[in-house]
Amino acid sequence: MIELKNVSFQYEQGSSKGKIENIDLTIHDGEVVLLCGESGCGKTTLTRLINGLIPHYYEGTLTGQTIVEGIDVKNVSLYALSGVVGSVFQNPRTQFFTVDTTSEIAFGCENLGIDAEEINSRMEKTVSALKIRDLLNRSLFALSGGEKQKIACASVSAMEPKIFVLDEPSSNLDIESIRELKNVLREWKAQGKTIVIAEHRLYYLMDIADRVLYMTDGHIKENLPIADFRKKTTDELQSLGLRALQSEDFSRMKGAVGATRQLYIRDFEAAYKNASGGRKQKQKVLDIPDLMIPQGSVVGVVGNNGVMWYKKS
Ligand SMILES: Nc1ncnc2c1ncn2[C@@H]1O[C@H](COP(=O)(O)OP(=O)(O)O)[C@@H](O)[C@H]1O
Ligand SMILES: [Mg+2]
Repeated sequence: MIELKNVSFQYEQGSSKGKIENIDLTIHDGEVVLLCGESGCGKTTLTRLINGLIPHYYEGTLTGQTIVEGIDVKNVSLYALSGVVGSVFQNPRTQFFTVDTTSEIAFGCENLGIDAEEINSRMEKTVSALKIRDLLNRSLFALSGGEKQKIACASVSAMEPKIFVLDEPSSNLDIESIRELKNVLREWKAQGKTIVIAEHRLYYLMDIADRVLYMTDGHIKENLPIADFRKKTTDELQSLGLRALQSEDFSRMKGAVGATRQLYIRDFEAAYKNASGGRKQKQKVLDIPDLMIPQGSVVGVVGNNGVMWYKKS
């Protein structure tokens, strides 16, 4: 269980605006709680209160109590907390300590002084639960963003904390990797873990989260069961500064175009002249049968990593 009792925090170097105030919150065992709200509202700060980075890493003025599994966070070291609360951040690179995947998954356990036999058994459990056997014994430098995030999750998972705290874990992931991240969260939920996840992207959490906390200016403005949160209309979400609850549906945008002048691309193919790697040489990187871009429009290009490559010189 996580309990925040009248917690307020002001960063040492922060402006008086950036402040968490009078937070009272209870998160029960096995709950999956989504933290949302506009940038700067305090989501990351709330995650730091739970994983102990506040007050053990970030300095400031803290009042009230954060109790995690019966432990007052400010009275124990980060080291002691790391076995209870596991953290996954936006950019997995910031949490790697080693250079290969297998060592990285074992690292957290080794650091906790767990004996070798137990580490091996936990590694095996983690690898099979998170379905990452194909990622073992690989260089961390040669992994995609999604694979790196899976290794970060696995390393934390092997430490078997009761609570997982994630701060915008989907930020650098493509659509397929987000689906796989969702599977990891599903696995943890099935194991009965408590999960607190701060996110801008909401859609992939709609059938995993149990409760949603909406924050503004350092306060929890709404605390809703997921069923109530899901009733919010797109307009309501927009007025709260939140994204849609469904994955973006680009097909609907077709035809919503009224510009009289357009740029057309038809039967366009491109390959790099000096593409490296034998078989891939001269492989098409662009193959566009038909594309229209209306004058004056701003067009976003989305897709999975490595699908298309567009470089503006
Ligand atoms: N390390 C820090 N030092 C000083 N101020 C910070 C620090 N981190 C965040 N803040 C401030 O705290 C407020 C809340 O930020 P944050 O918790 O990062 O919000 P969110 O994650 O919702 O974007 C903001 O005003 C931000 O500028
Ligand atoms: Mg944040």
